Amino acid sequence: MLHLRAGGVSLVLDARAGTGEPLPLVLHWGPDLGPLPDGDGLAEALVPPAAHSAVDRPVRRRLLPMPADGWRLRPGLAGARPDGGGWSPRFLVRSVELGEGGTCAVVSAEDPEAALELMTRLELHPSGVLEVGHRLRNLGDGPYLVGQLAASLPLPARAVEVLDLTGRWCRERIPQRHQLPHGTWAREGRHGRTGHDATLVLAAGTPGFGFRSGEVWGLHLAWSGDAVHWAERNPDGHAGVGAAELLGPSEVALDPGEVYATPPVLATYSGEGLDGLSAAYHRYLRGRPSHPRTPRPVVLNTWEAVYFDHRLERLTELAEVAARLGVERFVLDDGWFGSRRNDRAGLGDWHVAVDVWPEGLNPLIGHVRRLGMEFGLWVEPEMVNPDSDLFRAHPDWVLSGSGRPGRLPEAWRNQQVLDLANPDCWAYIHDRLDALLADHDIAFLKWDHNRDLIEAGHGGRPGVRAQTLAVYRLLDELRRRHPGVEIESCASGGGRVDLGILARTDRVWASDTNDALERQHIQRWTQLLVPPELVGSHVGPPRSHTTGRTHDLGFRVATALFGHFGIEWDIASASEEEQQALAEAIAVYKRLRPLLHGGQVVRADHPNPAAYLHGVVAPDRAEALFAYVQLTASAFETPGLARLPGLDPDRAYQVSPLAVAGEPQTKQTVAPRWTEAGGVTLGGRALGEVGLPLPVLRPEQALLLHLTSP
Ligand code: GLA
Repeated sequence: MLHLRAGGVSLVLDARAGTGEPLPLVLHWGPDLGPLPDGDGLAEALVPPAAHSAVDRPVRRRLLPMPADGWRLRPGLAGARPDGGGWSPRFLVRSVELGEGGTCAVVSAEDPEAALELMTRLELHPSGVLEVGHRLRNLGDGPYLVGQLAASLPLPARAVEVLDLTGRWCRERIPQRHQLPHGTWAREGRHGRTGHDATLVLAAGTPGFGFRSGEVWGLHLAWSGDAVHWAERNPDGHAGVGAAELLGPSEVALDPGEVYATPPVLATYSGEGLDGLSAAYHRYLRGRPSHPRTPRPVVLNTWEAVYFDHRLERLTELAEVAARLGVERFVLDDGWFGSRRNDRAGLGDWHVAVDVWPEGLNPLIGHVRRLGMEFGLWVEPEMVNPDSDLFRAHPDWVLSGSGRPGRLPEAWRNQQVLDLANPDCWAYIHDRLDALLADHDIAFLKWDHNRDLIEAGHGGRPGVRAQTLAVYRLLDELRRRHPGVEIESCASGGGRVDLGILARTDRVWASDTNDALERQHIQRWTQLLVPPELVGSHVGPPRSHTTGRTHDLGFRVATALFGHFGIEWDIASASEEEQQALAEAIAVYKRLRPLLHGGQVVRADHPNPAAYLHGVVAPDRAEALFAYVQLTASAFETPGLARLPGLDPDRAYQVSPLAVAGEPQTKQTVAPRWTEAGGVTLGGRALGEVGLPLPVLRPEQALLLHLTSP
């Protein structure tokens, strides 16, 4: 018996059959069962019946479920030899190793007839996140075509509702939920990048599960190419969640001895609703050695301030204002290179544009550095405009369906995708970026990716996998050579948010919309997976460039505070009062940074759909910051009581309204007494069980509540 236990989770496998027998059975993935006094007894007790007119013996879920086991849901492996052989392997165990501490296991198996070897690694991290990865080796003397190799885990009968996310440009991460009847609910991403509609997490749970209640089983594929996540249930009683890389026809043809390794699937179980699931992912990410540990610097990004209008004088002035207000990182966005004066030309020509920057970027960088800020630069390394020197010199360096120059995939933002699996192309891009980083004092790259991959072929075959791996190699190599440089994953906003890219970058750009109302939704659901310190979140101009909505500075700040805070606004043209308020907001962010970026994200299941109530609670629960956000006009005259979740029931808290960049606008004749008094002291139990009356806010206003406990 293999029993992995960590972070409130148990995974129990029955591996008693031993070597030469089929793969271990997956008996349980869910709440921690504690030490199993009699594992054999449990395994025996769980043997199900076999129904009439069905497989004659009980059908069980194995580590890689296959038709050879009588499995009639999605198979773990779909693949075959070119002549059709080896299409239905039956893996027999060669060895089972349990790692030290009992949280990691490796099972290796083989099917001598199909000439395939399978190695499965399971690791239950201290956070409770279960990492599953398979490696398939071709032991034959001809090629083996892999169609799909998936990791899947069982769902109990009580997990009857599915939640996943969809979205689009400027409206990423929209939740959708429904019952899971018999059948498969699959979310496929065929974007060649993670995609604006990527689910981030596909979860199934007990009826009505919420942020704070219910049991939830979820998983995420740590991969930036094509992917599928699913939940399925069969009349035979089996149900599960799974995920796999989506491969094109003949995309993976293993030569003799070659291995296909799946991207890791990261799965979580929570007995405390979606907040428990997020807490596990956030703990997992924060536990990585590569997790950013320095205070997340206040960013100013120039995109919505100047767009392509690069002028040293104007940018110098912007930098001066930024430094005065407390900005710590100044990021020059698109438009500094080649013939890139608009989005129709220049991508691929990673040389500073002399017509715009006659003395290069160093005069600006020097100025920014003297002002005490870091300098960051925008790049989009995987892309090329057909109107560029690079494309004119190497028209064959692009991904295409035919592999013939001349037949290009559909254009998207006037650009095509470079074939980074081509070693010459990879080396060129690597060398250009390497030189840029060597020649300039750059602390940060905003790494963009502004189109889907369509008909993305490499060497006459589907090429998304090779491209994704080549991009990972490029990032890994640049990070190795320039270890101090931080990287942001941007893809027309939140089109590349996944834990594969985050293994080699330091934050994501959640969306191209800086509209605070849209951002409330987008950040809420992005943080289902990604902790706030990795989610770029900027204060935009009063009138949003993407939606045309106008918001008070207080609302914009209250929204951006719950992420990696920054500004994307021509603050040189902001009024003096606005600049002053922004400086104060920056000071508050800096003061609260350890709480905001080290605490646990909590989202109340607030009964009023017109509002959100969310916050961050310090690990020792001695401090918290909550936001009550009025999204739309409410059906209620007064909002009622806000129950603040996640606090220590046995502590007393001083609760104070925190006005940053102005008080929120209200529409009330009498304010709640405690806000009038400027605060109140109450026990954590009362705050969690009874709550506090809230003021009547106007729509698109937020009240911040700061809680401290001596
Ligand atoms: C993408 C990004 C934006 C900006 C532009 C520049 O759309 O998401 O933030 O960098 O490209 O062209």
